[in-house]
Amino acid sequence: MMQSLALLLTSIIAASSACTIPTGPPLSNNITQGFSLQLQNASNPDVHNHFLNIWDWGGGDQHLFVSPSGNLTSELQLIDGVITLSSAFWDPPRRAVINGEYEPLDNTTKMFMTERGDPRAIWNVVYGCNPDTDALQLQLAFKARGDELGGLLGVRPFNGMYDFRWKGPGTSVNDPNRPWTHVTLAVVHNATLS
Ligand SMILES: *[C@@H]1O[C@H](CO)[C@@H](O)[C@H](O)[C@H]1NC(C)=O
Ligand SMILES: *[C@@H]1O[C@H](CO)[C@@H](O)[C@H](O)[C@H]1NC(C)=O
Ligand SMILES: *[C@@H]1O[C@H](CO)[C@@H](O)[C@H](O)[C@H]1NC(C)=O
Ligand SMILES: *[C@@H]1O[C@H](CO)[C@@H](O)[C@H](O)[C@H]1NC(C)=O
Ligand SMILES: *[C@@H]1O[C@H](CO)[C@@H](O)[C@H](O)[C@H]1NC(C)=O
Repeated sequence: MMQSLALLLTSIIAASSACTIPTGPPLSNNITQGFSLQLQNASNPDVHNHFLNIWDWGGGDQHLFVSPSGNLTSELQLIDGVITLSSAFWDPPRRAVINGEYEPLDNTTKMFMTERGDPRAIWNVVYGCNPDTDALQLQLAFKARGDELGGLLGVRPFNGMYDFRWKGPGTSVNDPNRPWTHVTLAVVHNATLS
């Protein structure tokens, strides 16, 4: 009796602590229900579990900063793999692009949101396990900058804040004075500031 109870408890604990990634066809790269993006990388407490925030930068552009800088948005959609500020609220829609402010010290280029036609940041949707809770989550996996496949998206110190920067594939350089941190972007619905 005790033994079977212990066995039962063990299997419940095992089941609840093991995040099982579902198998099946690739996930759609469209997510129409509005979401926020949560950053995850436990090695950097300044950014771990913070959010991708928008900042009205003028000229219609929204620049991207790590919370608490800027404004939290839950109006993001993924359309054909591109992070888009929903046309229900943003006319014309703003899309996440990677262009400008190239930094040779760490070979990174800024990601921001615009209605213009700069090379878009393109993502796949994949499952992952939340690093703190082990819950199954949807994540964005970086695919391409426009036609250029590969690279990684991370964040980097900028004027006491953090901005979002793409590092090209095969990059061999890093700037120790402004260390770049790779982040996982998790899709979160109904995010609230806490
Ligand atoms: C994604 O959404 C776009 C825009 O609505 C649409 O053109 C495209 O066919 C959709 N793709 C998939 C795989 O549903
Ligand atoms: C945040 O949103 C408010 C209200 O729309 C706006 O007045 C303010 O300029 C925004 N702040 C930034 C940093 O974009
Ligand atoms: C910078 O990234 C590009 C790919 O976008 C790569 O070809 C190049 O070798 C990288 N440069 C350095 C110095 O790491
Ligand atoms: C966290 O960031 C460091 C530095 O960029 C990187 O080496 C590490 O792979 C990242 N971990 C995750 C889970 O992204
Ligand atoms: C979260 O937001 C969606 C709309 O984006 C809504 O349908 C849903 O009811 C919300 N869930 C909660 C728990 O508030």
